[in-house]
Order: sequence, then C-alpha cells, then structure tokens
Amino acid sequence: MYKNDEIRIINLPKIEDDRGNLSFIEEEIHIPFKIKRSYWVYDVPGGETRGSHAFKNSKEFIIALSGSFDIVLHDGTEEKKFSLNRSYYGLYIPKMIWRNIENFSTNSLALILSSVPYNEADYIRDFNQFLTLLKKCKNQLYITVL
Ligand code: TYD
Repeated sequence: MYKNDEIRIINLPKIEDDRGNLSFIEEEIHIPFKIKRSYWVYDVPGGETRGSHAFKNSKEFIIALSGSFDIVLHDGTEEKKFSLNRSYYGLYIPKMIWRNIENFSTNSLALILSSVPYNEADYIRDFNQFLTLLKKCKNQLYITVL
C-alpha cells in the first residue's frame, strides 16, 4: 500500500498566539487529496452513531473542530479506534474503509473534507457487501500485479 493511502492521524500546523491559536489545511500539502467538498456534523444526540458505511472512491479527512468523538474503522481485516478531541489534528481515511463515528460529546462539531462531490452511488452501506467488494478489489490488484 502506498504511504499516501494509509489510515493515519495527520497533525496540522498550529500557530500559537496569546490572542488565540490558529490552524489551517491546504489541499495536497497537509492532506493527500484535492478538496471537492466540506461538510460538518453537529447537534448529535447523546449515544447516536453516524457513518456505518464505506466509500468506493471518496477519501476523507475528519477533524474534531469542537468537542470529541471516536471513529471506529474497519479495513476488512481489523478494527481500529481513533479518538479525536483537538482541532489541530485529524484522521485521514482512504477509500474502501468502513467507518462508524460514535461517542460524540455535547456540542461536538465534526468537520469532514472529502475528495469527491456528493454521490450516493459512492456509498457502500452494507458491511457484507463491503467485504465482498474489498475481496474483488484485492483479487483484481493481484491479477494486475501478476
Ligand atoms: P451520510 O453521509 O449517510 O451521513 P453520516 O455518514 O454522517 O452518518 O449522509 C446523511 C444524509 O445526508 C444522506 O441522506 C445524504 C445527505 N448528504 C448530502 O446530501 N450531501 C452530503 O455531502 C452528505 C455528506 C450527505
């Protein structure tokens, strides 16, 4: 797998100042894609889970602009949990990764940057279908390498 396509926490620039701190993101510099869409999730009632899907093509970068939440990822083999609770870092999620976002704190605000415009056809909303598609992708890659 290419380094750019690995799930990872990316630390953002943080300009510390007595007047307040500032962080920023530039596409293809701090995150490994061009930003085609930004959306945010807020006013999440206690105990709710967002996500529960994977994307065929979309790459995403998720930041906890305010408050905290957990992102649980599954790459078809193993599950990994990331807790986001600061606005100066985020989680990079490549395509074809199953995700749940849960444990939202009161008043939390999740900013999501995406590499594609909104397209419902890019969603995989069934976990078994995700696993099947993942197997097909891996087989195809294997055949291409051969
Ligand atoms: P969804 O991506 O399923 O939310 P989450 O992953 O946070 O649980 O989107 C919820 C609804 O909002 C769905 O009906 C599609 C719509 N939507 C848009 O119209 N545009 C967008 O950019 C996004 C992210 C969602």
